[in-house]
Amino acid sequence: MTSISVDHVSKTFGKVVAVDDLSFEAPAGAVTAFLGPNGAGKTTTLRVLLGLVTPTAGEATIGGAPYRELGRPLEHVGAVLESSGFHPGLTAATHLEAVRTAAGLAAARVGEVLDQVGLAGAAHRRTGGFSLGMRQRLALATALLGEPSALVLDEPANGLDPVGMRWLRGFLRAYAHDGNTVLISTHVLSEVERIADHVVIVSAGRLRWSGPPTAGSGLEDLYLEVAG
Ligand SMILES: Nc1ncnc2c1ncn2[C@@H]1O[C@H](COP(=O)(O)OP(=O)(O)OP(=O)(O)O)[C@@H](O)[C@H]1O
Ligand SMILES: [Mg+2]
Repeated sequence: MTSISVDHVSKTFGKVVAVDDLSFEAPAGAVTAFLGPNGAGKTTTLRVLLGLVTPTAGEATIGGAPYRELGRPLEHVGAVLESSGFHPGLTAATHLEAVRTAAGLAAARVGEVLDQVGLAGAAHRRTGGFSLGMRQRLALATALLGEPSALVLDEPANGLDPVGMRWLRGFLRAYAHDGNTVLISTHVLSEVERIADHVVIVSAGRLRWSGPPTAGSGLEDLYLEVAG
């Protein structure tokens, strides 16, 4: 089981305490929503999890191991962080092909992930001309290349139209239902109530609340109470 664990993680940048002794679990088979105000430390936590930032203290693990110790990491965890950059001159297909080749994955995966995210029709267009929502889909396709058992997505709903939102919700629910782990940060509380099995709220780098999403306007009230 590839559950995600954040265990007493702290990260300071100079005098800024971005993450402050934060611990939580994102269990397998569930969608965990990671919430908190701007600057709360969500992206920093996800970057620690993905081995992009060294924590000042503590450890984050995926399936029990820190990212750097995962052999063939793309086959364990797929990630989409803020502002995923693609070379603007590459087409969606050539971008995916480059990642696929570097990771030693099967050739058929490129077509499969393009189909999965609904980008097959744009496979041979240059990414420089992609809309924000198309970029989000291509970033997700890239994350899915290795058929990972965990997905870590930083604000994946950003830029998606209502049809895209509904599609993403269904996709992530099905993905988690298959036994995989999904950890997403988002500011869209209405989406959280529809998609998440588990909610983690942080503010100023600290854990404020974790538990199941509450119905109705409960989540917004709870969020404003604990994170405001
Ligand atoms: N590389 C860095 N150097 C200096 N400070 C940083 C760095 N990365 C993050 N920070 C600071 O750490 C704090 C947490 O930032 P972070 O990006 O993790 O927040 P966030 O919860 O993702 O916010 P948002 O909802 O706006 O995306 C902020 O005060 C930010 O300025
Ligand atoms: Mg962020």
